[in-house]
Amino acid sequence: MVDPQVVLAERVQRALAAAFGPEYADADPLIRPSQFADFQANVALSLAKRLRRAPRDVAQALVEHLDVAGVCANVEISGPGFVNLALSDEWIAAQAATMRDDESLGVERRAPQTVVVDYSAPNAAKEMHVGHLRTTIVGDALARVHEYLGDNVIRQNHLGDWGTPFGMLMEHLLDIGEEEALRRLAAGDGNAFYQEARAKFDSDPAFEERARRRVPLLQGGDPESMRLWHEFIEHTKRYFNRVYAQLGVTLTDEHIAGESMYNPWLADVCDELERTGVAVLSEGALCVFPPGFTGRDDKPLPLIIRKSDGGYGYATTDMAAIRYRVRDLKADRILYVVGATQALHFQMIFAAARMAGWLPDDVQAEHVQIGNVLGSDGKLFRTRSGKSIKLTELLDEAVERAEAVLADRDYDAETRAQIARQVGMGAVKYADLSVSHDSEYVFDFDRMLALTGNTGPYLQYATARIRSIFRKGGLDPEQAKGRIVPSEPAERALALTLLGFPAVVEKVAEASEPHRLCAYLFDLAQAFTGFYESCPVLTAEDEAVRESRLALSALTLRVLLQGLNLLGIEVPERM
Ligand code: ARG
Repeated sequence: MVDPQVVLAERVQRALAAAFGPEYADADPLIRPSQFADFQANVALSLAKRLRRAPRDVAQALVEHLDVAGVCANVEISGPGFVNLALSDEWIAAQAATMRDDESLGVERRAPQTVVVDYSAPNAAKEMHVGHLRTTIVGDALARVHEYLGDNVIRQNHLGDWGTPFGMLMEHLLDIGEEEALRRLAAGDGNAFYQEARAKFDSDPAFEERARRRVPLLQGGDPESMRLWHEFIEHTKRYFNRVYAQLGVTLTDEHIAGESMYNPWLADVCDELERTGVAVLSEGALCVFPPGFTGRDDKPLPLIIRKSDGGYGYATTDMAAIRYRVRDLKADRILYVVGATQALHFQMIFAAARMAGWLPDDVQAEHVQIGNVLGSDGKLFRTRSGKSIKLTELLDEAVERAEAVLADRDYDAETRAQIARQVGMGAVKYADLSVSHDSEYVFDFDRMLALTGNTGPYLQYATARIRSIFRKGGLDPEQAKGRIVPSEPAERALALTLLGFPAVVEKVAEASEPHRLCAYLFDLAQAFTGFYESCPVLTAEDEAVRESRLALSALTLRVLLQGLNLLGIEVPERM
């Protein structure tokens, strides 16, 4: 492990165990960046009470047992009991060399897990909306990060492609005419299509009657009804795929595991749960009552898996899905990247699955809650007319606006179009990723496209700037493999930031928090700016210093590119 904070934490924990006993081995050593050294350990202050000793005494005992030979150049107690830790130049140089020579930039192989990532999951009966955009972007980043760590990632796009609304949708399709209806669906007109069908259903009893009769035909597998449904889904998928391609998201048709896929198993799911006593009949409906969930009046809250009319719902499908993911896909961990409003649903699904024995203790299921995207009015992001936004148009607008931002650059038309696409998509994706996934944020083109601040374009620009240094020197960053010996404070700060990369990637996977990687990359770009402002690179007089600075710059470029790649953000060579 090249990360100094991780290495120091381990050493301090060992010293705690040696000084105070093994029960102290997992105390948090509280390693923090320090003003007076590289890092400081604040654990002596936090342990003083538990040990009934003065913090400075604790610090003293800790330091006596601390083995940091070869890592630190200096260890000092300061103030009430801080332990200041100054790394040795040689150690930093050696870690930087390890990272530079390692294909995966110091990220260590661990036992691979099978990680199922459930994300995107738009509804075929409605338009894909901006909330689905965010689960798509966050889920894709998480899938990429796990793959980078060597996990076996299984993407699952849990499309809303089944259920009673398809009765009225099929009838509406027949009314409009198959050809025209399918054309509209492929063009992304699903929402309007749905609304028209709904309006007729609510106002026209004959239509309502037809729609109701269509439902059992679909559920019974009537060939003509199934043919229409297939066409409907196929054409809707074309639109989803266009959005995915536009965004550069890794989802393809092979990852589709929509609600309809589970249809054949729903009866069995209910049978098994009823047979094992996990589900019981309540007012005619088959329900699971997971302990600890209560509604109004403290009454136990049901997870309804079969309605009293015999119909299955969203929860039934998710019970079938979780059983399939554990039993058949052999998941060690399942991430549900879905809107925060569904929190209760997933808590109940996980609890019910644990009751049923379908989700063993050693399999982790977690809801990665996605917060709302708001408009400048603070309400859910929609167009001015109140209709939801068509995603292809929104993404096109991002690209157009990116072109305007780059207007003063003298590229040829083709290059300009390509860069604008990368910058536009990078801006949209980074805006989704850089705030913690469960908080809301305001969708604001001007802010996300800014070339300064914590934005996608700023980071893309940072890579272009490093490339231009090498171009100016007639050099290739891939050849800049000199020995990194940081001496100036800004060089040291940059090197230490670089060494933090592997630990951040691991943390992103562990906590399912891509915004940590964004924050890290932003820090890194700023550390590079600080370095570049105070340390001449191409014009450094000493040959060894120049080599070292070129190697530092090249490593920064690699880490930025790798980090952005993990976020799913493409990077133009120039900007
Ligand atoms: N289609 C659902 C929606 O748009 C999301 C599905 C999420 N995944 C799941 N396994 N329930 O709200």
